[in-house]
Amino acid sequence: MSQAPSPKHAARLTIASIARLYADGQRIAMLTAYDFPTARALDEAGIPMLLVGDSVGQVMLGYDSTVRVTMAEMLHHTKAVVRGTKRALVVADMPFLSYGVTPEQSLENAGVLMSEGGAGAVKLEGGERSARIVELIVKSGIPVMAHIGLTPQSIHQLGGHRVQGKTREAGRRLLADALAVQEAGAFAVVLELVPEQLARAITERLRIPTIGIGAGAGCAGQVQVVTDVLGLNPDFTPRHARHFAEIYETTKAAAETYRGEVEAGTFPGPDQTVRMEDSVLDEILGRTPLDRAEGIGALPGIPLDRDL
Ligand code: KIV
Repeated sequence: MSQAPSPKHAARLTIASIARLYADGQRIAMLTAYDFPTARALDEAGIPMLLVGDSVGQVMLGYDSTVRVTMAEMLHHTKAVVRGTKRALVVADMPFLSYGVTPEQSLENAGVLMSEGGAGAVKLEGGERSARIVELIVKSGIPVMAHIGLTPQSIHQLGGHRVQGKTREAGRRLLADALAVQEAGAFAVVLELVPEQLARAITERLRIPTIGIGAGAGCAGQVQVVTDVLGLNPDFTPRHARHFAEIYETTKAAAETYRGEVEAGTFPGPDQTVRMEDSVLDEILGRTPLDRAEGIGALPGIPLDRDL
């Protein structure tokens, strides 16, 4: 009986693979990733899509919003995630104002994330307002994931991290946004901070998968910021996230133990130490009978035992 290939050896997933998962009715688990070792672990865990989110600005670089993240930073982190993965489809976020200023600039930046960064798709924010850019990029052969609902790059316009689509007008606008990006050719759409029932209704009306974050279990898939689910931020956990590990506490405890062992002299121990032949050390330090004869083997400026 043949076995399914392990994630380590399977070919890299594409948007066609994601469409197949969706058609098969499998819920799609997506996480953000920003660095080589984390990407590697998530890939080996079988996460099919990794998002190099511009949330990197807040959770990895200490900025106060995603608005400060640059193309150079996104490229740097995208390359690391691509190097760390063999199977996952890597989706690179297009940062603030890297698209939507002119069509040429949008296309050029999407192209850089693909050709230099090695991403398999890009993500950009906005529904109806971004549909023409989505269409342009998709027609150029670059897969696009759209992102509607709470769009963090517009945080200064939206006035905070608020649930979106809660009124008749706002809910209809969100539905129109979802349809607009689907018609523009997006292969999936992130729904962020949307009431569960509306997210479910949008999901039922689309042909492409919805990937929810704070949008309930009725979406076709879920995306979470990896630091939120690993428990890496001790100050804040969004309501929509759950800790699946306590990596901040684990890291802190390990560092405290390491400090204690260094201070006590118990680290490094024999297992972390290399030794050499004592006779060779004697030769190096001028302890052999030959060395004791003055002048033989003398090296100017190097104190041998006999000189001490
Ligand atoms: O940048 C990011 O992490 C995102 C997710 C919140 C979807 O866009």
